[in-house]
Amino acid sequence: MSKTNIAVLGAQWGDEGKGKIVDMLTPHFSTVARYQGGHNAGHTVYVQGKKFVLHLIPSGILHPKVTCIIGNGVVIDPQALFKEIDELARMGISVDGRLLISEKAHVILPYHRELDVLSEARRGERKIGTTSRGIGPAYEDKIGRRGIRICDMLGDRAALQEEVRENVNARNRIIKDSTLDWKPLFDQLLASGERIRPWATDVSLFLAQQMKEGKAVMFEGAQATLLDIDHGTYPFVTSSNASVGGVCTGLGVPPRAIGGVLGVAKAYTTRVGEGPLPTELSGALADRLRESGQEYGASTGRPRRCGWYDAVVVRYSARINGLDALALTKLDVLDGLDDVNICTGYKTANGIVTEFPADLRALNGATPIYETMPGWKTPTKGATTVEQLPPEAQRYVRRLEEVSGVDCAIISTGSDRAETIVRPDSVVAGWLA
Ligand code: IMP
Repeated sequence: MSKTNIAVLGAQWGDEGKGKIVDMLTPHFSTVARYQGGHNAGHTVYVQGKKFVLHLIPSGILHPKVTCIIGNGVVIDPQALFKEIDELARMGISVDGRLLISEKAHVILPYHRELDVLSEARRGERKIGTTSRGIGPAYEDKIGRRGIRICDMLGDRAALQEEVRENVNARNRIIKDSTLDWKPLFDQLLASGERIRPWATDVSLFLAQQMKEGKAVMFEGAQATLLDIDHGTYPFVTSSNASVGGVCTGLGVPPRAIGGVLGVAKAYTTRVGEGPLPTELSGALADRLRESGQEYGASTGRPRRCGWYDAVVVRYSARINGLDALALTKLDVLDGLDDVNICTGYKTANGIVTEFPADLRALNGATPIYETMPGWKTPTKGATTVEQLPPEAQRYVRRLEEVSGVDCAIISTGSDRAETIVRPDSVVAGWLA
């Protein structure tokens, strides 16, 4: 059992393969706690050979001794939550006694989904490319101080009725010709509340007790740093703090509780939805990465945009999150390429840029500056030690570490849990010792 509480989060634009890394580390922790996002996240797992996608519940739920937490920073669509719980039950996995949900978490209402779709349509060409799950509008209501929380569904009925009525009226004023009735929504919330009641608790208090008893907690991020509402490629971001700051606000734990931060990055780069992706590839090479990396969204099935590894992005993530190490995933996807590229900066109209800019206009017309290295013909797939990697792949990883300013403690060489290198001299090995 680990003695250190760690955060595991995405260092690029999401879909870095956090799921596999979290699964692999989970046996070393008592508790896995999600701190932000909602069912926009998707994490594919295989249970008894059957494919299953978890969106809200940490995959730690598949490990019988682990307690899973959904923090106050998460936005919850009760129907999506129940669907996941029911599917787990069908596979013989019960969440009872092992799933705790923050009573302060906000709820995604059916009309949040509608508003998400409407808002995207209104933006036209400037659309974000959201997952249409109502995530943004739910966080808007939270920040606008009119959101409905889990505890509101469990307490004073008259107060809830008033809140729902107010919210629905406000929504009807926004959406032309809308005459949504508050009553069915109110009834649905009451029913959902009753089902959630056994899991709802003060998760901050629970975590404080766990940590006091010396039990280790893993804080699991969804989406990623470049999709963070404050530090990502705004406005092409999600509406929560996916970077490390979200751990404290999204779970009610103090900064000192976080003993280590592990960033997860692919050996190349992908992104779903709109927004800048300076190293984006097109044509045969993009297709090659997409097919061999199976780069299709776990939540929406959308094809992911693919590009070379961008060290500007990962260096930025290392700074924002104070990354102690990287878990580098999908190295095997690059197997067989003649050359591999690492982006170290961008050539722009205003000169060379090596720090990720706040104003995305600085990236308009930017050309990535690449270091080209020889690829490798001997597969890395399935390697479990660095020495098993072909020399060219070892050189690629070493250079990537140098330009990103952070070491790769874990290297994933395939989707199976066994296809992983954990460097014995790394900080991660120390955490798990
Ligand atoms: P939203 O989170 O649905 O509002 O979408 C905002 C942006 O974040 C869009 O570009 C989405 O494609 C992206 N996004 C949201 N969740 C994920 C994820 O789990 N992986 C990758 N991208 C995501």
